[in-house]
Amino acid sequence: MPHPGISGQGRNHHHRRLGVPDALHLVQEAWIETQVAQCGYCQSGQILSAHTLLQTNPEPTDEDIDSSMVGNLCRCGTYPRIREAIHLAAQKIKNQATPWKEENS
Ligand code: FES
Repeated sequence: MPHPGISGQGRNHHHRRLGVPDALHLVQEAWIETQVAQCGYCQSGQILSAHTLLQTNPEPTDEDIDSSMVGNLCRCGTYPRIREAIHLAAQKIKNQATPWKEENS
């Protein structure tokens, strides 16, 4: 029996994509704008964890980010840029969810 994430018949979130090159997810956009990656080895896991964090905590503090991301090691030490990118992604998601605020302010 094929793995449900591979067959496409299941709802295994670990195998779902966040975005595609022509339509990046806001977390991916924030990652690029913040120039987070160095060697890139850890970055896919960091981005997925950031996405999961923002789904449950849309406005995380630095402490929330540090405790949520603790399982993802980055030997290049990109942690400060990861924090910055998560805050930027949170703002992007918030702005996308309430675009009328910018239009009426
Ligand atoms: S960017 Fe190199 S391990 Fe994280």
